Formats: sequence, C-alpha cells, structure tokens
Amino acid sequence: MHFDGLKHSVSGVHPRLSFFGLGYVGLCSAVCFASRGFRVIGVDVDKDRLKEIAHGRPPFFEPKLSWHLQRALKSSCFRVSPDTKLAIQSSDVSFITVGTPSASDGSADLSQVKRVVKTIGRSLSRKEDKHLVVLRSTIAPGTLRNVVKPLLESMSHKNMGEGFDLCYNPEFLSQGVAVGQSLNPDRLIIGSFDKRASEALLAIYRKYLNDHLPPVFSTTAEASEMIKYANNTFLAVRISLINELANICSLIPGTDILDVAKGIGMDKRIGSRYLSPGPGFGGSCLPKDLNGLIHLAQEKGYSPPLLNAADSVNSHQPEQVVNMVVDILGDLRRKRIAVLGLSFKQGTDDIRESPAVKIVQYLSEKGASVAVHDPRVFKPGLFPGRVTVAASVKECLKDAECCVLATEWPEYLMIKVTDLRKLMKQPALIDSRRLFDAREMSKYLRFAATGLSPVKPS
Ligand SMILES: NC(=O)c1ccc[n+]([C@@H]2O[C@H](COP(=O)([O-])OP(=O)(O)OC[C@H]3O[C@@H](n4cnc5c(N)ncnc54)[C@H](O)[C@@H]3O)[C@@H](O)[C@H]2O)c1
Repeated sequence: MHFDGLKHSVSGVHPRLSFFGLGYVGLCSAVCFASRGFRVIGVDVDKDRLKEIAHGRPPFFEPKLSWHLQRALKSSCFRVSPDTKLAIQSSDVSFITVGTPSASDGSADLSQVKRVVKTIGRSLSRKEDKHLVVLRSTIAPGTLRNVVKPLLESMSHKNMGEGFDLCYNPEFLSQGVAVGQSLNPDRLIIGSFDKRASEALLAIYRKYLNDHLPPVFSTTAEASEMIKYANNTFLAVRISLINELANICSLIPGTDILDVAKGIGMDKRIGSRYLSPGPGFGGSCLPKDLNGLIHLAQEKGYSPPLLNAADSVNSHQPEQVVNMVVDILGDLRRKRIAVLGLSFKQGTDDIRESPAVKIVQYLSEKGASVAVHDPRVFKPGLFPGRVTVAASVKECLKDAECCVLATEWPEYLMIKVTDLRKLMKQPALIDSRRLFDAREMSKYLRFAATGLSPVKPS
C-alpha cells in the first residue's frame, strides 16, 4: 500500500490521525479509527470536554461510544490535547469535524471551520512532511475551493499539492447508531481537486475497513459538498411529505397514515425508510442543511419552492401536536400536561432543534403547566416558568390531564394503561410518534395520534 508523500504510510504501518472537533461526528469517528489500531489524537477547543473524554466519559450520550472510548484510551491508541501544533506534528492526516451551525440568515456559519483551518495552516507551516487535510463537516458547495484551500495556503505558506493535500469527505452517520455506522459506513464520497489526494484518503479507508470497502464515489470537491446537502435535503423533503400526508389523513375518517406509509413503502421505487410520521425533523443536520441549501439557491437567484414548502411543513408540525391537545382539553391555562421525551429522536440526548422542545414551549406559552421527562436529557434550567422536569415517568404523569409522547424512546412502551389511568387526573394520550398501538390504547383512554382521525373510546 502506498500513500504518496505521507511519512508514516509505508506498507503495513497505519498513518497517524488527528481529529479536530470532538462532537458527535469527531469523537465517534476518532474512537472507531483508534479501535482498529490507528494512532489517533483528538483536539477540541472545549477544555472541559477534553477532560471528560480523557477520563473515558463521552460528553454526550451515544450508544456503545463509552465502551469504545474507554477501550481506545486503555490501548493508548487514542489521546486528546488542546494543542494543534502537537497534533499536526504527531499525525499524517487531519480530519476536520467542527460544527457548522446555521447563521441567522439560514446560511452555514463557517466561523468554527475558518478558525480551525487557520490554526492547522499555521502548524503546517512548521511541518516538513506532507500532510493530508480532510474536511468532514457539512459545508456548502464551493467552500473547500473558496474558503478552506486559500486559508490553508496563506497560513501555511505552502501550495496545495506540495505541502499538503486536501479532500472533502462528507459524513453521513445518524446519531443513535453513530458507532455502528462509523465502523461500517454504507458508502464513501470523496471530493478533491486531484486524484492523488482522493487515492491517499481511500488507502486509509482500505486499512480502516480491512479492504471491505463500501461503494466509493470520487468526484469533484463541489459535487461532494452538494451531495451532502442534497442527501439531507432529500430526507427532509421525504419526512415533510409523509407528515403532510399524515395531516391530511387525520382529517379523513378511516385513513391511518401508518397504513398509507406501509402501502407506499411496498413500492420498490419508494421503499419504507424515512416514512415515519411525527412532530417533524430536528437535530443538528436536517433543518440546518435544508436551510443552508435554500439560502444558497436564493443567493444564486432561485427560490426553491419545494424546499421552502418542506421547511414550512416542518416548522408547523409541532403545532399540529399542540392542536391535538387543545382539541381534547380546550383552554390550556393551568392544565397540567405531561410531555414524554425531549431529545430530537430516540437514541440520543441531543435537543438541538428538537420538535419535542418546541411542543413544550408552545404548551407553556398557552398557559399549561408542563411536566417533562426524558431518559437521557438532564439539563436543569432548560425551560423557564411553568415547566418542571420529572425524575421518572410516573412523576411526570402524576395528576396530568393529558400526556404527549414527543420522542419515541422504546422504554415508553413499558408504560401500562393502568398506570396512565391511575396516575393521571384524566387519562388522555397524544401519540405524536405513533409508538403505541392506537386501537388498543383507544379502548382504555382518550387517544389521538399523528395521521389518525380522532379515535373515540370504544
Ligand atoms: N451530528 C450528526 O449527526 C452529523 C452527521 C453528519 C454530519 N454532521 C456534520 O458534522 C459536523 C460536526 O457535527 P457535530 O454534531 O459533531 O458537531 P458538534 O457541535 O457536536 O461538535 C463540534 C465540536 O467542534 C469543537 N470545535 C469548535 N471549534 C473548534 C476548533 N477551532 N478546534 C477544535 N475543535 C473545535 C466544539 O467544541 C465541538 O466539540 C457539522 O458540520 C455537522 O453538520 C453531523
């Protein structure tokens, strides 16, 4: 195996890696590479985060991450540092995995990317050996060419292709299953300005995946950046479409969106994934990438009607859930409502853009006193005013007049109808995620759900 120009890339030796940005993407990928024998150094600007990670405690919940992290630290394959210079000197390849949140105008805020690229560039100016820089954060088409490359060149005083090579390699992992997906990615997209850079990255993946490469697509930097945006936009539109169909089903007696989704999902051209109705998509990716692409299109003079519509459906979806509560309780002032779940989906403690959080805010704005519970989100002071955080499901349900299932945590399936009837002041359940068996539940309590016309107790 040959990695052109990389010192530690002689046959049989794994190149040494550095990861900049130890969030969901960076930490999961870094630890997975370390678990396969790569020497990895992780860098972050958040010193508290580094301290936690160095003690084997991931700063967020991601299934299996803690185990892999502790193992990687124990094997000495993984260490952390705040020192960019050290990380660049002691690695051959740097992956950039910092955040690219939405700016207030919907565009991607590149401040973290610019900052890290500048510091990497400065450190490269003092390095003799050639380095490979791989950007993995989500960026708009043109960013690698117009922002990252010139910054690296000016700070390192080296030309791309001579002092360093540069690739874009978008990350497609899903929180909640990030470790499994990092260990076995279902495809690799590599964007670069020349073949040598993409070949060098591919050679690293060959070592990492033990030659079991998934389908690989090497393309231009701009196309690879667009693939990432288009990918998330496609998923966002699909979710908004199923939610719009769900909203229509809820107005037509005899239709249930779950049956409709099952039927259309049987069409091989459509497939059954990403057809779950709910309170809308959230998290750090789909909303911001959809808005990033809308912003980019508008900058170019095109207002994309379908993408705008998908965004609009999504931003109204939490209100649809609150309307179901109003249909049952009428005026919400001083009504006690239990909300189960806060994270944007099950399997993560991430509440960024979470529809569950929006549901709590809307209920509270309407004067309800809200009790919330989430098995993984423990953030005291998250809500001001009339919102209390319950330590258990039972405490959350106590004396509530309505319960809203806002996140599809499987543990909520353990809730017994008898508990709902015993603990709640009035047993009424809104299943925004379609977790429960609607026919069964509606036998025993007032029940409403996304994409189902109102069910009367039988
Ligand atoms: N979260 C996901 O599921 C996911 C999936 C695919 C792609 N992405 C993309 O990957 C990128 C990272 O996402 P994330 O969710 O891991 O972000 P995150 O916000 O969880 O983590 C970013 C990390 O970067 C650190 N950081 C910021 N500036 C830094 C600097 N100058 N040097 C070193 N570290 C720095 C932060 O302290 C933080 O720990 C984003 O562009 C995102 O869109 C995310």
